[in-house]
Amino acid sequence: MQQVQGATAAKAPAGSAAERYGILERPDLSFTPAVAKETEHLYERVKSFIPAIEWPVFAPYVHAINRLKKERGAVILAHNYQTPEIFHCVADIKGDSLQLARDATRVDAGIIIQCGVHFMAETSKLLNPEKTVLIPDGRAGCSLSESITGDDVRALKARYPGVPVVTYVNTSADVKAETDICCTSSNAVAVVDSLESDTVLCIPDEYLAMNVAKKTKKKILTWQGHCEVHERFTAEELLEYKAADPSIEIVAHPECHPSVLAVSDYAGSTSGMIDYVKTKRPGRVLLVTECSMASNIQAEVKDVDFVKPCNLCPHMKRITLPKILDSLLFMTEEVTVDPAIAGRARLAVERMINLKQ
Ligand code: 13P
Ligand code: SF4
Repeated sequence: MQQVQGATAAKAPAGSAAERYGILERPDLSFTPAVAKETEHLYERVKSFIPAIEWPVFAPYVHAINRLKKERGAVILAHNYQTPEIFHCVADIKGDSLQLARDATRVDAGIIIQCGVHFMAETSKLLNPEKTVLIPDGRAGCSLSESITGDDVRALKARYPGVPVVTYVNTSADVKAETDICCTSSNAVAVVDSLESDTVLCIPDEYLAMNVAKKTKKKILTWQGHCEVHERFTAEELLEYKAADPSIEIVAHPECHPSVLAVSDYAGSTSGMIDYVKTKRPGRVLLVTECSMASNIQAEVKDVDFVKPCNLCPHMKRITLPKILDSLLFMTEEVTVDPAIAGRARLAVERMINLKQ
């Protein structure tokens, strides 16, 4: 792939990743016979979601991204909610928030492209201060992350002096910096139970905190943040599915209201949900979570019938193949963390990662 010389290259802002690594020329995105052949095995993985007539639009991007990431020495981390063509065709490391945070500490590559939302990219940067972390669309936020600021946590600490703060990873580095230890949906109960105190601030997800409170003896104080995807599910709608087909298994994410978990057969992190389906192989399953995840597992578990109530996360869906390609070409958008808060925020994430369970 050619480096762009002269005027375009000169546009890279001083000190930017584009200046450090150089800008590359946009590749030809035609669906040539060579591209068709080299992406054939990848199409096999997603053919139940992408009609054959549409593959010629996807394949040149998949081909260019896979070639470029090798040339750049980049690795693509993708959350379980990414769309099937990203999840199955270009991602190197996939998982839930905890797995992505853990795997980010083991990455050899100098460049990490985070296909997920901004707090995930920020977590990768915290754990890899020397590496270049890029997110294909920096606007990919999260309603939980946006529900609370560092000032809010400082005010909570002043109101509840001495009460330890457990913060969900779905938060900004500013919030993590005010935190004793982070948690994810897969380890929240273990993190809370690991603390000495009888009372714990578990923020900002009110429903996750309510679900944790049911599994711990500790008194849980929380915040009124909600996931805009999971808060939309109701126990009533799930009971209607059950009434229509009593054999259906309901598998929910702990960001849902406790009344939703009460009518579910299993609740766990996105990877916990995937493992449940892969191991248990229910005849029919309803995943109470973001819609793309059902498609991603369906591609691997052909004998399970998925019912999809289909709530999409608009933030996760900002990440697309064309934007991933642009990240690799132009080294955008680089994720940085203010050094004044990075050290304290990193400690909160590392305490979680190092927690023995
Ligand atoms: P997981 O850690 O379960 O992947 O959840 C992340 C998330 O954003 C769910 O909405
Ligand atoms: Fe945030 Fe909810 Fe989207 Fe997850 S699904 S990134 S919690 S808004």
